[in-house]
Amino acid sequence: QTAAVFRRRLHRWYRRHCRDLPWRRTRDPYRILISELMLQQTQVSRVLDFYARFLDRFPDLPALASARPARVMEAWAGLGYYARARNLHKLAREVTTDRAGVIPHDPVELRTLPGIGAYTAGAVASFAYEKRAALVDTNVARVLHRVFAPDAAPKSGPGLKRLWRIAEDVLPRTGKATWLHNQAIMELGALVCTARSPKCGQCPVRQGCASVDHFAPR
Ligand code: ADE
Repeated sequence: QTAAVFRRRLHRWYRRHCRDLPWRRTRDPYRILISELMLQQTQVSRVLDFYARFLDRFPDLPALASARPARVMEAWAGLGYYARARNLHKLAREVTTDRAGVIPHDPVELRTLPGIGAYTAGAVASFAYEKRAALVDTNVARVLHRVFAPDAAPKSGPGLKRLWRIAEDVLPRTGKATWLHNQAIMELGALVCTARSPKCGQCPVRQGCASVDHFAPR
């Protein structure tokens, strides 16, 4: 299917089926950043609690920047992958002192900050600033691999490079539409196009999906 058809079907599905998640109700770059870092290696259901508690303790970037490291680690305790918390704290200090407290808009600039990779840069740019930026995490890689590029191994370097290209190729024209588009691909990967048993019968983009016959033989 063409990019335009893929988008139309996907976006219509998202409007109907998306989960109401707290980080989808804000455009505050600080809050988006916290959510995306927490969600990187942790399930949504688990993040919900930690996210609310973390923001109670550190409601904004200055509050986090001026906190003692031990308090930050304490608020992160239970989430695991503690390098994320150490990098986040470092980022808060750096952005406060060097950038007047403004989290950058541009994915290339975002990537110069501690702990920010290509995925998080795309997420902050598109979800906080509604910039036309692509993002690929394991969910998105799986969806794009199955729909458009069954021969691109989603866990290999060259495969991922190709999937990033595809993610960029299927972006909508505007940044505003990109917010919904990126949320929608992630949501499809989380709810329908799951790793183990994809629910092709419920998939809005199964017509023209390169993998539908593999998972749901007719
Ligand atoms: N995982 C990573 N980012 C997410 C988001 N914005 N919504 C749901 N799950 C996610």
